[in-house]
Amino acid sequence: MTNSQKILDRRKQFVPNAIGIFNPSTAISETGSIITDADGKEMIDFAGGIGVVNAGHCPPPVVKAIAEQAAKLIHCSFNVASYELYMQLAEKLATLFPHGEHTKVMLTNSGAESVENAIKIARQATGRQAIICYDGAFHGRSMMSMTLTSKVGYKIGCGPFAPEVYRLPFPDTYRYGNGMSEDDFADMHLRELENFFHTNVPQTAVAAIIIEPVQGEGGFTVVPAKYLQGLRKICDEYGIMLILDEVQSGFGRTGKWAAYQHFDVVPDISTWAKSMGSGMPIGCVIGKAAIMDSCKPSTIGGTYPGNPVCCAASLATIQYMEEIDINALGEKVGNIVRTRFNKMKEQFAAIGDVRGLGAMMAFELVKDNDPFQPDADTCKKLITYCASNGLIVINAGVNGNVIRVLGPLVISEALLNKGLDIIENGLQELLG
Ligand SMILES: Cc1ncc(COP(=O)(O)O)c(C=O)c1O
Repeated sequence: MTNSQKILDRRKQFVPNAIGIFNPSTAISETGSIITDADGKEMIDFAGGIGVVNAGHCPPPVVKAIAEQAAKLIHCSFNVASYELYMQLAEKLATLFPHGEHTKVMLTNSGAESVENAIKIARQATGRQAIICYDGAFHGRSMMSMTLTSKVGYKIGCGPFAPEVYRLPFPDTYRYGNGMSEDDFADMHLRELENFFHTNVPQTAVAAIIIEPVQGEGGFTVVPAKYLQGLRKICDEYGIMLILDEVQSGFGRTGKWAAYQHFDVVPDISTWAKSMGSGMPIGCVIGKAAIMDSCKPSTIGGTYPGNPVCCAASLATIQYMEEIDINALGEKVGNIVRTRFNKMKEQFAAIGDVRGLGAMMAFELVKDNDPFQPDADTCKKLITYCASNGLIVINAGVNGNVIRVLGPLVISEALLNKGLDIIENGLQELLG
């Protein structure tokens, strides 16, 4: 029996089955864009721990910062004793992501916690309760974030869910565009939103609209620019908070620090996590100062958020990202992947759509070139083929039929192409 099989067997014995296995690989060490499995096999990583290691696995300056900080101050709770690192990180984030003239930042432990707090902040800032979210959205697994999440498979048996949550169709041009221009399609969805205020919930009751500029778990569907810009206008008109969830799309993934920077839209509140800490559990909510300060004392916060070791990891990560120009890397990786995926689409009819923004790239597998016949089975087989041939890759999409690339952006061109070759060979073997 291999070491990897032993690990997977022990996992079955001691860990609840419901904790997902997105890929059959194991891990014992990692560096750059390579994960070494429990049997010493080197795997190219296209999953990045679900989009967490844009700056690579174990970047040396981040490892050093974690070790040095752990020797000095691991935890005292920011509520109990203030420390400079929290402010350093808050200032850095406010500078990178200004939300108006004065921006404030609260640190969290995860993406779900960022979303949870963003909703509490929006409700307190507006004095309203309703939240609008989207089909295909993923915002986390805590109770409010799970309510906002769309895919029923993630929620089964967990209700009742939080009240005052309303859901709109996401403007998904591939599935529902019907040959319309992207702008016309965006206009149609904006009109539907205006109508929604008469048919579902009045705008005066809506605290926030939360949306991912590029849906992550939903399958890398990019919001049409005109739609996001239209949302901004509608939110301004009705005093609704626009919350942009950048947990998966942030920190260089799309070739910019924030995906929203592609759209020339600034949110009132934004949510972050994943790649901001290179794998340490840290996230944040960023917002206009007046909005962030509308919260009553102690309604936001917690024991661990902004833990000094996580702050040190995040500061070192951001500094390293600046040094290596993470956004240029995101753009470069994205261009290579897009070109290769488009070529694969010409070769394999099963690829119904290639889409994404920067290095947040994916393709969708369907039967008979029909967006409504998702081919999750081939997707699963392709992931298994890749795993046995040295590539870790994961799926996405409410139907589980989307192959997505979320790996480290520090990957060399040679390794990136080697990984893409494995995908292409897998498609060849599975589809002929
Ligand atoms: C857009 C988005 N929001 C929120 C989350 C939840 O983050 P976490 O898993 O850190 O709670 C995720 C996780 O994949 C995500 O992609």
